[in-house]
Amino acid sequence: MENNKYLVLGGTGKTGRRVVQRLEALGHEVRVASRSSEPSFDWSKPEGWEAVLEGMDKAYVAYYPDLAVPGSKEAITKLVEVAERTGLKKMVILSGRGEPEAQECELIALNSNINTVVVRVDWFMQNFSEYFFLDPIKAGVLAAPKAETKIPFIDLDDVADVALKALLEDRITNEVLELTGPDLINFEEVVEEISKATGRDIQYIPVSIEEYTQMLRDHKVPEDFIWLITYLFTNVLDGRNASTTNNIEIILGRPAKSFSTFAKEIAATGVWDVAIPETAGE
Ligand SMILES: NC(=O)c1ccc[n+]([C@@H]2O[C@H](COP(=O)([O-])OP(=O)(O)OC[C@H]3O[C@@H](n4cnc5c(N)ncnc54)[C@H](OP(=O)(O)O)[C@@H]3O)[C@@H](O)[C@H]2O)c1
Repeated sequence: MENNKYLVLGGTGKTGRRVVQRLEALGHEVRVASRSSEPSFDWSKPEGWEAVLEGMDKAYVAYYPDLAVPGSKEAITKLVEVAERTGLKKMVILSGRGEPEAQECELIALNSNINTVVVRVDWFMQNFSEYFFLDPIKAGVLAAPKAETKIPFIDLDDVADVALKALLEDRITNEVLELTGPDLINFEEVVEEISKATGRDIQYIPVSIEEYTQMLRDHKVPEDFIWLITYLFTNVLDGRNASTTNNIEIILGRPAKSFSTFAKEIAATGVWDVAIPETAGE
């Protein structure tokens, strides 16, 4: 077996964790990096990055919180500089589809001396099972803007399988892999699929972006997260991504996971179950 050492930035997150599992299952040596690792990797503390990259051959990079936020270009420029200095050979970077700022970051990495593969993906299905849409689904009411927008939601196991291949295989080199799921669906259809899979009556309520941000404020959501969500709803979920690609099938030799299969699998784990409160006095 090749004896490359793998670094996973954001290795405890939704995509990074899945990449780490796959590399370790194949017996590869993996350094999982985030603020909680030793050595620690913090996107706001570039002085610590060299120690994390030192001795690493290939890296999976999930930027946090999003390549669309101000400061991401400077961070990727600096990361590439450190990676070139420490001799990184290949970098697989996660990017967001339809985000002009993210595409600028991709170019910084692609134009470097490091063999870069961009895994450019659409909205995660796991936003409903591991992220900010989980609580509304559990509560039985998903209020969100952009009712009309069709989104080709993507499964993170598919993303991780592609990222793994991109890390391991020399034939995947210096390119952008644009990935989507197979179905174009809107939020109402998402909620219908989850209702069907769970047997629960979950409602979708269309709201304006202003109403949505006010709801987030009422729930004391941090302002920088509200900024990001507002940006995504305004600038990305405007229909620009209402098309699918078949790159997952081409790369993996099997179809991408559909939302209905995802919903059935997640429903079976119980993640979407609602705890029934104990009746007082029992
Ligand atoms: N959600 C979507 O639908 C979607 C779609 C397309 C692209 N993306 C992209 O996905 C990326 C996020 O990836 P993900 O979902 O796999 O990650 P995630 O689940 O959000 O996890 C974040 C990871 O980054 C680490 N982290 C958090 N703050 C950090 C900081 N200041 N410095 C260094 N590490 C930090 C976390 O670990 P610690 O807390 O231990 O530091 C964790 O490992 C973003 O770039 C986003 O643009 C998301």
